[in-house]
Amino acid sequence: MPRGLFITLEGLDGSGKSTQISRLAAWLKKREPGVQGIILTRQPGGTETGDRIRALVLDSRSTGLDAMTEMALMFADRAQAIAEVIQPALDEGKIVLCDRFTDSTEAYQGGGRQLGSEIVLELHRQLCRNLQPDLTLLLLPSLEASLTRARRRNERVASETGKDEGRFEAEKDAFYRRVHEKYTEIAAREPNRVTLIEGDLSIDEVHEKIVASVGVRLRETHAEISAK
Ligand code: ADP
Ligand code: TYD
Repeated sequence: MPRGLFITLEGLDGSGKSTQISRLAAWLKKREPGVQGIILTRQPGGTETGDRIRALVLDSRSTGLDAMTEMALMFADRAQAIAEVIQPALDEGKIVLCDRFTDSTEAYQGGGRQLGSEIVLELHRQLCRNLQPDLTLLLLPSLEASLTRARRRNERVASETGKDEGRFEAEKDAFYRRVHEKYTEIAAREPNRVTLIEGDLSIDEVHEKIVASVGVRLRETHAEISAK
């Protein structure tokens, strides 16, 4: 059975990942009716264990978390998600859409927390068997646009549900500038895997760029399968 397709969405908080992932899933369902299934997942979270890690790591009451602890928790979450959700779905030929993956750890812990890329990539090799996305859609609107939207959304969610997921959004702008820079560096290092969508575009404009990129990758995958 052919391996499925693994697509990740990346970007700063508030860059529009959740909005775009559901629009992409709807587009794929229409365009690929024959596909074995489409799985939507996110990190941290996406498994029962992962949801518990998410609650711990995103809650702004988790004060004093060491940067290494934070990185280890992100990888614990990811190893579980790969074992429980991502790898089994890919083995069944499904399309997996994942909101954040190891590029987030490289950008936030490697860049933002200044742990560097090397340790993140090494842990990825050891703990995630170096599983690589077939395609990564990196949304990089301006820092100001992303953060304003993320902070507004978190206030709304907190007042509606009482859920506190604001630990990262409370970080200073300098932290987010480093995250933004690291993402730009990843895109330059891996242009074949990463499609960079930059600038303050409308939701429809970003969607159009995403489906153009995914369409190319789907055609390549179909060509590879029929050549076998
Ligand atoms: P993320 O998952 O990356 O944190 P969301 O998809 O939750 O981002 O978007 C954060 C907020 O910004 C939401 O209220 C969403 O409707 C809005 N939004 C998303 N994309 C855009 C865009 N391109 N232009 C304007 N607002 C947007
Ligand atoms: P998420 O819920 O995707 O946030 P948002 O919807 O605001 O983009 O992710 C939660 C936070 O966790 C986000 O601030 C980024 C951070 N994070 C890391 O620092 N490292 C990681 O490896 C991952 C997966 C997320």
